Amino acid sequence: MTTATLSGVREARDRYVSAAVTAPPLVVTSASGARIQADDGRSYIDFAGGIGCQNLGHGAPEVVEAIHAQTDRYLHQCFMVGMYEPYVEVCRRLAEVYPGSGEYKSVLLNSGAEGVENAVKIARAATGRPAVIAFERAFHGRTLLTMSLTSKVAPYKRGFGPFAPEVYRAPAPYEYRGIGSDEALDGLRRLFKAEVDPATVACVVLEPVQGEGGFVPMPLDFPRRLHELCAAHGILYVDDEVQAGVGRTGPVWAIEHYGVTPDLLVSGKSLGGGLPLAAVTGRAELMDAVGPGGLGGTFGGNPVACAAASVVLDTVASPAFRDRAEALGREIRTRLDGLAGELECVGDVRGLGPMLALELIADGAPATELTAAVVGAAHARGLLLLSCGLDGNVIRLLPPVSIADGDLADGLDALEGALRVVLSD
Ligand SMILES: Cc1ncc(COP(=O)(O)O)c(C=O)c1O
Repeated sequence: MTTATLSGVREARDRYVSAAVTAPPLVVTSASGARIQADDGRSYIDFAGGIGCQNLGHGAPEVVEAIHAQTDRYLHQCFMVGMYEPYVEVCRRLAEVYPGSGEYKSVLLNSGAEGVENAVKIARAATGRPAVIAFERAFHGRTLLTMSLTSKVAPYKRGFGPFAPEVYRAPAPYEYRGIGSDEALDGLRRLFKAEVDPATVACVVLEPVQGEGGFVPMPLDFPRRLHELCAAHGILYVDDEVQAGVGRTGPVWAIEHYGVTPDLLVSGKSLGGGLPLAAVTGRAELMDAVGPGGLGGTFGGNPVACAAASVVLDTVASPAFRDRAEALGREIRTRLDGLAGELECVGDVRGLGPMLALELIADGAPATELTAAVVGAAHARGLLLLSCGLDGNVIRLLPPVSIADGDLADGLDALEGALRVVLSD
C-alpha cells in the first residue's frame, strides 16, 4: 500500500496515524465559509472552526488572495537569515491593535503553545524570577511547559510527567459553580502564603475566557483585580488570547471587555487565517529584555502565514467585523437562552460576544455522556460541534464570525434538534 486514496483515508489513518491523535468520523474534501464538504457527499455546518482558527471562515477570499500573492513572491526565509516585510508588517499591526497605549513589540512563532512558552521565557528574563502561576481549568498547550501549566489530567498530562518545575496553580473564578472573584483572589493570596513567595513569581498566565476548560469567562472585575495584585508584587500579567482573541469575542482581544492592559499577550489560532502562526506581543522593554538570539525559531513568522495574518488583523480590527460579531453573539445567545428556559439539562449559557457555550447537567451534576451524545447527534444532522470542560459537559460554539445567516439558522436548528432527540431517547 502506498499513499491513501480518498476512499481509503479512514483505513489508512488507522494504519499510519498515531491512535493518540483523535479524529471524528469525518473526511474533509473541501471547505468554504462555514461549510465543510466531506467524502460522504454531505455538506456540514462548521461550529468548530478547526478549534477556533476560522473566525473569518474557511478560505476567506481576501486571505487566500494574500496567500497566493505571497506564494508567488517567496516562501520560507527564516527571519534570522534575512528579514522580510510580511513579518514586520504583522508585528506593526499587533502593536497598533494592542489593548494599551505604549510602545509594543512582538515575536512570531508557530503555535499557541510555543507562544505561551515564549511569553514565560520573556517574563522570566525580564523579571529574573522563576515561578509561574496558572489557574484551574487552564489550557495553554501540550509542550512540556505548557502541559505543566494546563489543568486537565486526561488526556493532556497522564503518563507525561515529570512536569516543569516552578509552576503553581491558583483557583479561577467559575461563577456557575459558585467561585467568584473574591474566592479566587483569596486562593491566590493563600498560595502566596503557603506555596510560593510572590517575590519569586515572574508571571501569571490567564485566558480571559477559558477555552478548553469550559468556555468560562472571567467575571468583569477579575482581570483588573488580578492585575493590581500582580503589579503590587512585580508580577507580570500574561494574557493568553490564543482561543479568545482575534475577534472571537467581538473586539480584537477579549481582554478589551475588561479594560486591562496586560504586560504580554499571546495570540494564535485564527491569527494565521488557516495557516500556523502565533505571536507574543508586549511592552517594548519586556520584549527587549531577552538577549539577542534568545527568541526565534526556524519557521516562526513564515512569510505566507504573515501575509494571511495582516489581512486577518485588518479585518478583525474593522468596525464592520465587530458589528457582525456582536450581532452574531446576540443572535446565538437569544437562541441558547431560549433552550435553557425550556430544557432542564441546559444548566448554563455563558461566554462573551459570539464565543458562547452551553453547560449540560443532569440533577445539577455534569452530564458528560449526554453531551457526547448531543455532539454525535449533531454530527448526524450535519453540524460539527466540539465539547469542552473538565467533565466534557460543555458544548462550545465557534462558528466563523462571517457565517451566512442561513447557515447559522440551520446550525442552531441542528443543535436544538440534536438536544431534543437525545433527550427523547
Ligand atoms: C487558550 C489556549 N492557549 C494555548 C493553546 C495552544 O495552542 P496550539 O494548539 O496552537 O499549540 C490553545 C489551544 O487550544 C488554547 O486554547
